[in-house]
Amino acid sequence: MTDDYTTTQTGTPVASDAHSLTAGRDGVTALHDRYLVEKLAQFNRERIPERIVHAKGGGAFGEFIVTGDVTAYTKAAVFQPGTATRTLQRFSSVAGEQGSPDTWRDVRGFSVKFYTTEGNYDIVGNNTPVFFIRDGIKFPDFIHSQKRLPGSGLRDADMQWDFWTLSPESAHQVTYLMGDRGLPRSWRTMPGYGSHTYQWINAAGERFWVKYHFHSLQGNEEITGVEAEQLAGADADHYRRDLYEAIERGDFPAWRVSVQVMPYEDAKTYRFNPFDLTKVWPHSDYPLIEVGIHTLNENPQNFFAEIEQAAFSPANTVPGIDISPDKMLMARVFSYPDAQRYRVGTNYNELPVNRPVAPVHNYSQDGAARHGFKPADAPVYAPNSFGGPSAQPERAGEGSWESDGALVRSAATLHAEDDDFGQAGALYREVFDDAARARFLDTIAGAVGGVKREDIRERAIQYWTNVDASLGRALRDRLDSASQTPDGAAEYVGVAE
Ligand code: HEM
Repeated sequence: MTDDYTTTQTGTPVASDAHSLTAGRDGVTALHDRYLVEKLAQFNRERIPERIVHAKGGGAFGEFIVTGDVTAYTKAAVFQPGTATRTLQRFSSVAGEQGSPDTWRDVRGFSVKFYTTEGNYDIVGNNTPVFFIRDGIKFPDFIHSQKRLPGSGLRDADMQWDFWTLSPESAHQVTYLMGDRGLPRSWRTMPGYGSHTYQWINAAGERFWVKYHFHSLQGNEEITGVEAEQLAGADADHYRRDLYEAIERGDFPAWRVSVQVMPYEDAKTYRFNPFDLTKVWPHSDYPLIEVGIHTLNENPQNFFAEIEQAAFSPANTVPGIDISPDKMLMARVFSYPDAQRYRVGTNYNELPVNRPVAPVHNYSQDGAARHGFKPADAPVYAPNSFGGPSAQPERAGEGSWESDGALVRSAATLHAEDDDFGQAGALYREVFDDAARARFLDTIAGAVGGVKREDIRERAIQYWTNVDASLGRALRDRLDSASQTPDGAAEYVGVAE
């Protein structure tokens, strides 16, 4: 290291890192020891607020290479044949705080930032293809119910099951969560999904609806509840360590990225609402089309600067890609940049990890910690007569959809197969095998067994009966027999999970 002398933040050499300036050997400390003051003050400001959700995570840089040909569906530069794009990926758990164990049962976040030549494109998804709710106005309530009680600061099964059973649209995602998908062996061995329906626009201006799938080339692997509990105690950072060490030894994890593509007009008459985030599109209706391979090959140099301050957002789209009329997605487009202005700071997009490789030209200026600026004579407003940048709709390549009618607050179901329980039941009966169904019953018996209020417990049994009648009966039997054992429901805790 050539910088062999210590300085203040303003570059002045300092006298000591061991002794404060005092009046005599045992005297009072001088307030004008400005290095001492700076050192303590800087230390007090080392933390920024953790993400309100998905606080615990880790990530790495990588590369996305297009291996397929989807030019018929999108003109986005990042998806043109042969294109290679640098990326950043962050994985996370949803409910736990910064220091929480990686292997608590949860949905896992799966965020990818593509530093494209046309601006940053982010896919901010999960390891499940669906979600708990279908309207963003419910999100704060949903998260409150999964986090901690205000009084005791404890997580609480009654809150969780109360919310889920009063929001039956959660059934499909809770089936994923309570199934094997809730406990991946590592981030490397789980899939990822964009989950929402997005819009693609091709060079001719034609529009399509798409869903993203990331399939792990390492294969999918899960752990049992018992392993998860042991790991939570032995190594709370199990997933973070696994990813870091794999990349350090050159064992680069990769995912095959595919899309399902629905012609624009199909959405109107499809058998269920294709913008409903609680539903998957069966592959028999819309098969997977390969787009490319995403590989993670570079660990961050600094976790805080490059992972903690990373700002992923569904609002970051590029020409040829847009959002869809999914109420959840529209709420997210507001929520993420808002969170990041608060969590990281107004000019968070100027930080190296968030800064696009594409040039930034606009008329926004100033704000806390701004350091980029234009020449003194550059115009500061639009329109102007001085040659400043102008908005160009053809270049922006935005999507659109038809929308009219009165403003309403409605959950109207217009499609024949719009329902809450059908796909959850199909997942349980047709995708899980016998062993997975047995583990699933163990897990929900343990979890519902932790509910103290009788009415919520009863509603939970009804909820699973709606998913599958025989599952509901089996759950009731398990809970009844547990309540007759001397240890009651406690019998299941730590055994089933
Ligand atoms: C309307 C519903 C939702 C709202 C309001 C919401 C809000 C948020 C907020 C505020 C953050 C923290 C952002 C930050 O501080 O950087 C976040 C993180 C995240 N959310 Fe959501 N979210 C919603 C639904 C979803 C859904 C449906 C998914 C997945 C399909 C998802 C996946 C994620 C992921 C992966 C992160 C972590 C991003 C990262 O790695 O930095 N969220 N969410």
